[in-house]
Amino acid sequence: KKVAIGVDIGGTNTAIGVVDGEGNVMVKDSIPTPSHGNLDRYIEELTVAIKELIKSVKLVNSDIEILGIGIGAPNGNYYNGTIEYAPNLSFQGVVPLVELLKKSFPELDALALTNDANAAAIGEMIYGGAKGMKNFVMFTLGTGVGSGIVVNGDLVYGADGFAGECGHTVLIPEGRMCGCGTKGHLEAYCSAPGMKRTAFEILVRDNAVNSLLADKSYKELDSKMIFDAAEKGDKVALEVFEKTGHWLGQALADTVHHLSPEAVFLFGGPTAAGDYIFKPTKAGMEKYLLPIFKDKIQILPSKLKQGDAAIVGASALVWKEVDK
Ligand code: BGC
Ligand code: NA
Repeated sequence: KKVAIGVDIGGTNTAIGVVDGEGNVMVKDSIPTPSHGNLDRYIEELTVAIKELIKSVKLVNSDIEILGIGIGAPNGNYYNGTIEYAPNLSFQGVVPLVELLKKSFPELDALALTNDANAAAIGEMIYGGAKGMKNFVMFTLGTGVGSGIVVNGDLVYGADGFAGECGHTVLIPEGRMCGCGTKGHLEAYCSAPGMKRTAFEILVRDNAVNSLLADKSYKELDSKMIFDAAEKGDKVALEVFEKTGHWLGQALADTVHHLSPEAVFLFGGPTAAGDYIFKPTKAGMEKYLLPIFKDKIQILPSKLKQGDAAIVGASALVWKEVDK
Protein backbone atom coordinates (compact mmCIF):
# COMPACT_ATOMS: atom_id res chain seq x y z
CA LYS A 1 0.00 0.00 0.00
CA LYS A 2 1.38 3.36 -1.07
CA VAL A 3 1.19 6.25 1.38
CA ALA A 4 2.55 9.78 1.66
CA ILE A 5 3.66 11.90 4.59
CA GLY A 6 2.08 15.32 4.95
CA VAL A 7 3.68 18.03 7.09
CA ASP A 8 1.95 21.32 7.84
CA ILE A 9 4.13 23.98 9.41
CA GLY A 10 2.00 26.45 11.33
CA GLY A 11 2.89 29.39 13.53
CA THR A 12 2.74 27.40 16.76
CA ASN A 13 2.55 23.75 15.76
CA THR A 14 3.81 21.49 13.02
CA ALA A 15 1.32 18.75 12.20
CA ILE A 16 2.55 15.53 10.64
CA GLY A 17 0.53 12.64 9.28
CA VAL A 18 0.77 9.49 7.20
CA VAL A 19 -1.93 9.72 4.56
CA ASP A 20 -3.21 6.99 2.24
CA GLY A 21 -4.06 7.39 -1.45
CA GLU A 22 -7.68 8.28 -0.66
CA GLY A 23 -6.69 11.17 1.55
CA ASN A 24 -7.32 9.43 4.88
CA VAL A 25 -4.96 10.22 7.72
CA MET A 26 -3.74 6.88 9.13
CA VAL A 27 -1.67 8.24 12.02
CA LYS A 28 -0.67 11.73 13.02
CA ASP A 29 1.38 13.67 15.51
CA SER A 30 2.43 17.23 16.13
CA ILE A 31 5.49 19.02 17.44
CA PRO A 32 5.88 22.67 18.40
CA THR A 33 7.17 25.01 15.72
CA PRO A 34 9.97 26.84 17.53
CA SER A 35 9.06 30.31 18.73
CA HIS A 36 12.61 31.46 18.38
CA GLY A 37 14.49 29.63 15.75
CA ASN A 38 16.67 26.75 16.88
CA LEU A 39 16.56 25.27 13.42
CA ASP A 40 18.84 22.24 13.89
CA ARG A 41 16.88 21.06 16.84
CA TYR A 42 13.59 21.53 15.00
CA ILE A 43 14.82 19.48 12.01
CA GLU A 44 15.93 16.78 14.43
CA GLU A 45 12.53 16.71 16.17
CA LEU A 46 10.72 16.67 12.85
CA THR A 47 12.87 13.78 11.63
CA VAL A 48 12.23 11.76 14.77
CA ALA A 49 8.49 12.42 14.67
CA ILE A 50 8.24 11.36 11.01
CA LYS A 51 10.31 8.21 11.60
CA GLU A 52 8.18 7.25 14.60
CA LEU A 53 4.99 7.65 12.57
CA ILE A 54 6.39 5.53 9.76
CA LYS A 55 7.33 2.87 12.28
CA SER A 56 3.86 2.83 13.79
CA VAL A 57 2.03 2.40 10.46
CA LYS A 58 4.47 -0.30 9.43
CA LEU A 59 3.66 -2.21 12.61
CA VAL A 60 0.07 -2.70 11.52
CA ASN A 61 0.59 -2.73 7.74
CA SER A 62 3.71 -4.59 6.70
CA ASP A 63 3.30 -3.80 2.99
CA ILE A 64 3.46 0.01 3.39
CA GLU A 65 5.47 1.91 0.83
CA ILE A 66 6.33 5.52 1.70
CA LEU A 67 6.25 7.59 -1.47
CA GLY A 68 7.61 10.79 -0.04
CA ILE A 69 7.11 13.81 2.17
CA GLY A 70 5.06 16.85 1.23
CA ILE A 71 5.38 20.01 3.29
CA GLY A 72 3.17 23.07 3.42
CA ALA A 73 4.54 26.23 5.02
CA PRO A 74 3.87 29.96 5.05
CA ASN A 75 6.08 31.61 2.44
CA GLY A 76 7.12 28.18 1.24
CA ASN A 77 8.88 28.21 -2.11
CA TYR A 78 8.16 25.14 -4.22
CA TYR A 79 10.95 25.87 -6.69
CA ASN A 80 13.81 25.53 -4.25
CA GLY A 81 12.22 23.90 -1.20
CA THR A 82 12.84 26.86 1.08
CA ILE A 83 10.83 28.94 3.52
CA GLU A 84 11.63 32.58 2.97
CA TYR A 85 11.04 35.44 5.38
CA ALA A 86 7.77 34.02 6.71
CA PRO A 87 5.91 36.79 8.56
CA ASN A 88 4.29 34.49 11.11
CA LEU A 89 7.18 32.10 11.79
CA SER A 90 10.24 32.71 13.93
CA PHE A 91 12.71 31.41 11.34
CA GLN A 92 14.95 34.16 10.06
CA GLY A 93 15.79 34.69 6.42
CA VAL A 94 15.84 31.73 4.08
CA VAL A 95 15.47 28.20 5.49
CA PRO A 96 16.45 25.40 3.09
CA LEU A 97 14.03 22.93 4.63
CA VAL A 98 13.92 20.31 1.87
CA GLU A 99 17.70 20.18 1.63
CA LEU A 100 18.03 19.78 5.41
CA LEU A 101 15.36 17.09 5.62
CA LYS A 102 16.75 15.16 2.64
CA LYS A 103 19.77 14.30 4.73
CA SER A 104 17.52 12.33 7.08
CA PHE A 105 15.50 10.69 4.32
CA PRO A 106 17.91 10.01 1.45
CA GLU A 107 15.84 7.00 0.33
CA LEU A 108 12.74 9.05 -0.50
CA ASP A 109 12.38 10.27 -4.08
CA ALA A 110 9.66 12.79 -3.52
CA LEU A 111 10.42 15.42 -0.91
CA ALA A 112 8.73 18.66 -1.77
CA LEU A 113 7.59 21.86 -0.12
CA THR A 114 5.01 24.39 -1.15
CA ASN A 115 3.17 27.31 0.34
CA ASP A 116 0.63 26.11 2.94
CA ALA A 117 -2.33 27.58 1.07
CA ASN A 118 -1.09 26.00 -2.16
CA ALA A 119 -1.03 22.67 -0.32
CA ALA A 120 -4.64 23.24 0.72
CA ALA A 121 -5.53 23.98 -2.92
CA ILE A 122 -3.84 20.78 -4.10
CA GLY A 123 -5.67 18.81 -1.41
CA GLU A 124 -9.00 20.32 -2.49
CA MET A 125 -8.22 19.49 -6.10
CA ILE A 126 -7.31 15.85 -5.44
CA TYR A 127 -9.63 14.93 -2.56
CA GLY A 128 -12.06 17.77 -1.97
CA GLY A 129 -14.69 19.95 -3.59
CA ALA A 130 -12.45 21.10 -6.44
CA LYS A 131 -12.21 17.64 -8.02
CA GLY A 132 -12.59 18.17 -11.74
CA MET A 133 -12.35 21.97 -11.51
CA LYS A 134 -9.74 23.55 -13.73
CA ASN A 135 -9.89 27.10 -12.39
CA PHE A 136 -10.40 27.92 -8.75
CA VAL A 137 -8.84 29.81 -5.88
CA MET A 138 -8.34 28.66 -2.31
CA PHE A 139 -8.27 31.20 0.52
CA THR A 140 -7.08 30.02 3.93
CA LEU A 141 -7.99 31.98 7.04
CA GLY A 142 -5.81 31.35 10.07
CA THR A 143 -2.97 33.12 11.84
CA GLY A 144 -2.27 34.48 8.38
CA VAL A 145 -4.38 34.67 5.25
CA GLY A 146 -3.06 32.62 2.36
CA SER A 147 -4.20 31.62 -1.08
CA GLY A 148 -3.52 29.02 -3.72
CA ILE A 149 -4.43 29.67 -7.33
CA VAL A 150 -5.27 26.96 -9.85
CA VAL A 151 -5.46 28.00 -13.50
CA ASN A 152 -6.08 25.58 -16.35
CA GLY A 153 -5.75 22.67 -13.94
CA ASP A 154 -2.37 23.68 -12.56
CA LEU A 155 -1.15 25.52 -9.54
CA VAL A 156 0.23 28.95 -10.42
CA TYR A 157 3.76 29.49 -9.08
CA GLY A 158 5.02 32.49 -11.03
CA ALA A 159 8.59 33.59 -11.68
CA ASP A 160 10.00 33.08 -8.19
CA GLY A 161 7.51 30.53 -6.90
CA PHE A 162 5.52 32.88 -4.69
CA ALA A 163 2.40 33.49 -6.80
CA GLY A 164 -0.83 33.69 -4.84
CA GLU A 165 0.08 35.81 -1.83
CA CYS A 166 -3.46 37.21 -1.89
CA GLY A 167 -3.49 37.62 1.89
CA HIS A 168 -1.31 40.64 1.30
CA THR A 169 -3.80 42.29 -1.04
CA VAL A 170 -4.06 45.98 -0.13
CA LEU A 171 -7.43 46.35 1.52
CA ILE A 172 -7.26 49.63 3.41
CA PRO A 173 -4.35 51.93 2.52
CA GLU A 174 -2.46 52.97 5.68
CA GLY A 175 -4.72 50.65 7.67
CA ARG A 176 -3.80 48.14 10.36
CA MET A 177 -0.27 46.81 10.57
CA CYS A 178 0.05 43.40 8.90
CA GLY A 179 2.30 40.60 10.19
CA CYS A 180 4.61 41.30 7.23
CA GLY A 181 5.34 44.85 8.39
CA THR A 182 3.29 46.71 5.79
CA LYS A 183 0.03 48.48 6.59
CA GLY A 184 -3.45 47.71 5.36
CA HIS A 185 -3.23 44.18 4.00
CA LEU A 186 -6.22 41.80 3.95
CA GLU A 187 -4.48 39.53 6.47
CA ALA A 188 -4.54 42.26 9.11
CA TYR A 189 -8.35 42.22 8.89
CA CYS A 190 -9.48 38.72 7.98
CA SER A 191 -7.00 36.45 9.77
CA ALA A 192 -7.97 35.01 13.16
CA PRO A 193 -5.99 37.75 14.99
CA GLY A 194 -7.56 40.31 12.63
CA MET A 195 -11.06 39.19 13.65
CA LYS A 196 -10.10 39.50 17.30
CA ARG A 197 -8.87 42.99 16.71
CA THR A 198 -12.13 43.87 14.97
CA ALA A 199 -14.05 42.51 17.97
CA PHE A 200 -12.04 44.64 20.37
CA GLU A 201 -12.44 47.74 18.21
CA ILE A 202 -16.22 47.31 18.24
CA LEU A 203 -16.30 46.59 21.98
CA VAL A 204 -14.41 49.80 22.66
CA ARG A 205 -16.32 51.90 20.10
CA ASP A 206 -19.71 50.91 21.56
CA ASN A 207 -18.54 50.50 25.13
CA ALA A 208 -20.42 47.21 24.75
CA VAL A 209 -20.14 46.01 28.33
CA ASN A 210 -23.12 43.68 27.88
CA SER A 211 -21.65 41.83 24.93
CA LEU A 212 -20.86 38.15 25.49
CA LEU A 213 -17.35 38.98 24.32
CA ALA A 214 -16.85 41.85 26.77
CA ASP A 215 -15.25 39.82 29.55
CA LYS A 216 -12.89 37.84 27.29
CA SER A 217 -9.23 38.73 27.36
CA TYR A 218 -7.48 39.49 24.11
CA LYS A 219 -5.44 36.35 24.58
CA GLU A 220 -8.32 33.93 25.04
CA LEU A 221 -10.73 35.29 22.43
CA ASP A 222 -10.92 33.15 19.27
CA SER A 223 -13.13 32.79 16.21
CA LYS A 224 -15.06 29.91 17.81
CA MET A 225 -16.06 32.17 20.72
CA ILE A 226 -17.13 34.87 18.31
CA PHE A 227 -19.20 32.27 16.44
CA ASP A 228 -20.83 31.00 19.65
CA ALA A 229 -21.69 34.57 20.63
CA ALA A 230 -23.13 35.27 17.16
CA GLU A 231 -25.34 32.18 17.53
CA LYS A 232 -26.76 33.77 20.66
CA GLY A 233 -27.48 36.98 18.76
CA ASP A 234 -24.60 38.98 20.22
CA LYS A 235 -24.46 42.24 18.26
CA VAL A 236 -20.71 42.68 18.53
CA ALA A 237 -20.04 39.15 17.29
CA LEU A 238 -22.51 39.56 14.42
CA GLU A 239 -20.81 42.77 13.36
CA VAL A 240 -17.39 41.10 13.46
CA PHE A 241 -18.61 38.54 10.92
CA GLU A 242 -20.33 41.19 8.78
CA LYS A 243 -17.18 43.25 8.61
CA THR A 244 -14.79 40.33 8.13
CA GLY A 245 -16.96 38.94 5.35
CA HIS A 246 -17.26 42.25 3.54
CA TRP A 247 -13.54 42.83 3.68
CA LEU A 248 -12.81 39.35 2.44
CA GLY A 249 -15.41 39.68 -0.29
CA GLN A 250 -13.85 42.93 -1.45
CA ALA A 251 -10.50 41.19 -1.87
CA LEU A 252 -12.15 38.22 -3.56
CA ALA A 253 -13.64 40.55 -6.16
CA ASP A 254 -10.10 41.56 -7.15
CA THR A 255 -9.06 37.94 -7.37
CA VAL A 256 -12.07 37.10 -9.52
CA HIS A 257 -11.31 40.00 -11.86
CA HIS A 258 -7.74 38.78 -12.21
CA LEU A 259 -8.44 35.11 -12.73
CA SER A 260 -12.05 34.34 -13.66
CA PRO A 261 -12.26 31.25 -11.44
CA GLU A 262 -15.19 28.82 -11.30
CA ALA A 263 -15.21 28.97 -7.53
CA VAL A 264 -13.45 30.33 -4.50
CA PHE A 265 -12.92 27.94 -1.60
CA LEU A 266 -12.56 29.12 1.98
CA PHE A 267 -10.63 27.08 4.47
CA GLY A 268 -9.73 27.43 8.16
CA GLY A 269 -11.21 27.98 11.61
CA PRO A 270 -13.42 31.03 10.91
CA THR A 271 -15.22 29.16 8.09
CA ALA A 272 -16.83 26.91 10.70
CA ALA A 273 -19.15 29.88 11.31
CA GLY A 274 -20.99 29.00 8.08
CA ASP A 275 -23.48 31.62 6.86
CA TYR A 276 -22.23 34.15 9.40
CA ILE A 277 -19.08 34.45 7.35
CA PHE A 278 -20.13 33.15 3.91
CA LYS A 279 -23.13 35.49 3.45
CA PRO A 280 -21.32 38.80 4.00
CA THR A 281 -18.35 37.49 2.01
CA LYS A 282 -20.61 36.79 -0.95
CA ALA A 283 -22.35 40.16 -0.56
CA GLY A 284 -19.01 41.96 -0.28
CA MET A 285 -17.71 40.26 -3.40
CA GLU A 286 -20.85 40.79 -5.49
CA LYS A 287 -20.85 44.49 -4.62
CA TYR A 288 -17.56 45.03 -6.44
CA LEU A 289 -17.85 42.52 -9.31
CA LEU A 290 -18.16 43.49 -12.93
CA PRO A 291 -21.52 42.52 -14.46
CA ILE A 292 -19.81 39.76 -16.48
CA PHE A 293 -19.00 37.95 -13.22
CA LYS A 294 -22.10 38.75 -11.17
CA ASP A 295 -23.88 35.74 -9.61
CA LYS A 296 -21.51 33.35 -11.35
CA ILE A 297 -18.77 32.75 -8.81
CA GLN A 298 -19.44 30.25 -6.06
CA ILE A 299 -17.89 30.74 -2.64
CA LEU A 300 -17.61 27.28 -1.12
CA PRO A 301 -16.36 25.79 2.13
CA SER A 302 -13.42 23.42 1.78
CA LYS A 303 -14.61 19.81 1.74
CA LEU A 304 -11.46 18.54 3.41
CA LYS A 305 -12.01 17.45 6.98
CA GLN A 306 -11.05 20.37 9.24
CA GLY A 307 -8.20 19.45 11.48
CA ASP A 308 -6.66 17.04 8.98
CA ALA A 309 -6.99 19.22 5.91
CA ALA A 310 -3.57 20.84 6.04
CA ILE A 311 -1.79 17.49 6.46
CA VAL A 312 -3.84 15.94 3.67
CA GLY A 313 -3.10 18.88 1.39
CA ALA A 314 0.62 18.68 2.05
CA SER A 315 0.60 14.90 1.43
CA ALA A 316 -1.24 15.47 -1.85
CA LEU A 317 1.83 17.33 -3.08
CA VAL A 318 3.70 14.02 -2.98
CA TRP A 319 1.17 12.36 -5.30
CA LYS A 320 1.47 15.30 -7.63
CA GLU A 321 5.26 14.91 -7.62
CA VAL A 322 5.10 11.17 -8.26
CA ASP A 323 2.57 11.68 -11.07
CA LYS A 324 4.85 14.01 -13.02
C1 BGC B 1 1.92 34.24 4.27
C2 BGC B 1 1.51 33.16 3.29
C3 BGC B 1 0.73 32.07 4.00
C4 BGC B 1 -0.38 32.64 4.83
C5 BGC B 1 -1.10 31.58 5.63
C6 BGC B 1 0.73 34.70 5.04
O1 BGC B 1 1.12 35.67 5.96
O2 BGC B 1 2.48 35.35 3.58
O3 BGC B 1 2.64 32.61 2.66
O4 BGC B 1 0.20 31.20 3.02
O5 BGC B 1 0.11 33.62 5.72
O6 BGC B 1 -0.23 30.89 6.47
NA1 NA C 1 -0.01 30.58 -2.22
